[in-house]
Amino acid sequence: MERTLSIVKPDGVKKSLIGEVVRRFERNGLKVVGMKMIHMDKKEAEGFYAVHRGKPFFESLTDFMSSGPCVVMVLEGENAIQKTRELMGATDPAQAKEGTLRRQFATNVERNVVHGSDGPDTAAFEISYFFNALEIFEY
Ligand code: CDP
Ligand code: MG
Repeated sequence: MERTLSIVKPDGVKKSLIGEVVRRFERNGLKVVGMKMIHMDKKEAEGFYAVHRGKPFFESLTDFMSSGPCVVMVLEGENAIQKTRELMGATDPAQAKEGTLRRQFATNVERNVVHGSDGPDTAAFEISYFFNALEIFEY
């Protein structure tokens, strides 16, 4: 069993895609073991995306991620990290496979609806960025 962190980004929330994203995960064997709505401020978005600091898209990305509420969730399942990334599709929706969330719903490479951790270390960091032990459940 593996855990990963996913986010319905502000564009996804505004497009009423919370249910669609969660349904896609649940249908594909991922269990939602933690979930909440948050609204990051600029500093919190910068901390979350610290690995991208200095890249050309960092300013715009952290403005976008702090522009409205997000739904953050902890997903659990076999190969949860890879499975979530497959369901999301490539970062740039134009490159994303048919049927993926980003291909279907993203506006552009920045406003791409959904986030998913990219490896075990990032998953651990990202889960602990938003959730404490009492906010993650076993069922
Ligand atoms: O989210 P993912 O892991 O697929 O991509 P990333 O390379 O870790 O980039 C994080 C986020 O930055 C992306 O999901 C996009 O929202 C944004 N981004 C962007 O605005 N322009 C790029 N050229 C690359 C990423
Ligand atoms: Mg990433």
